[in-house]
Amino acid sequence: MSAAGYPVSEPASSRSPYAAAPRLPPGEGLTAAQILGLPETANAEPRLELEIGPGRGGFILERLTADPHVCIVGLEIRLKWASLVDERVRSSGHGGRGRVFAEDIRAALPRFSPGSLARVFIHFPDPWWKKRHAKRRLAQTDVMDQLARALATGGELFVQTDVWDTARAYRDAIEALPGFAPHGDVEGSPLLAENPYGARSPRERRVMADGMPVTRLRYRRVAGALGAA
Ligand SMILES: C[S@@+](CC[C@H](N)C(=O)[O-])C[C@H]1O[C@@H](n2cnc3c(N)ncnc32)[C@H](O)[C@@H]1O
Repeated sequence: MSAAGYPVSEPASSRSPYAAAPRLPPGEGLTAAQILGLPETANAEPRLELEIGPGRGGFILERLTADPHVCIVGLEIRLKWASLVDERVRSSGHGGRGRVFAEDIRAALPRFSPGSLARVFIHFPDPWWKKRHAKRRLAQTDVMDQLARALATGGELFVQTDVWDTARAYRDAIEALPGFAPHGDVEGSPLLAENPYGARSPRERRVMADGMPVTRLRYRRVAGALGAA
C-alpha cells in the first residue's frame, strides 16, 4: 500500500490481471502530444486537460462526448480502473483525444513539461474526513507546486467535493501558492454554484442524487509566479 492508503502500481511480473495497465510514455518533460501518443507536428500543441483520480471514469467519457475539441488524460493510481476506463475511451472512438494511465499523480506530474496543461480537474478527492488522515490528502505542497508548474498561464484548476474540510484544505493549499487567482461566479471568490464542464464524475452524480451539497472551487493560473508557466 502507498502512504496514501491506496494500492500502489504492481510490477509487470505481478499476477494482477491488470499488470499491463497503460502507463505514461517514458521520460521527462512530456508534451501534450507525447502523452496522447500523437505525432509531434509544427502545429500548436493540443490543449490538454488532466483529471486526477478519475476512478470509474464517467467524467472523462462525458467530457470527450460533450466537446469534440477536448483532449483529456486521466491519472489513476488503481491499475484496474485505469485499464478499464482507458479501454472504454478507446472503444468509444475517442482514443486520439483521451487516455487514462495507471500512475500515481505524485510521481507522474513532475514528468509533464511546464505549462503543458490547460485544465486540471480534481473531483471528490481524499475519501477520509478524520483530522488524523489529513496527511494523506493530495493537496500537499509538493503536488500543488507541480500542478502550478504544469498548468499553462490562463489555465484552470477545478476542485469539487462534498466534504467541507476537504474543500477548505484545497482552498488553503491553492491560495498559499502565488500563481492562482480565484475564478468563481463572483469576482474575488473561487466558489462556483454549478459544474460548468458538461460532464459529471461518478461520485458527483451519487452525491447530487442524494441531495448532498457540493462545494466547487475554480482558480485561474496567472502569469509570473513560480517561473514555469
Ligand atoms: C474518492 S475517489 C473519486 C473518484 C472520482 N474522481 C469521482 O469523483 O467519482 C478518489 C480517486 O482518486 C484516486 N487516487 C487517489 N490517490 C491517487 C494518486 N496519488 N494518484 C492518482 N490517483 C489517485 C483513487 O484511486 C480514486 O479513484
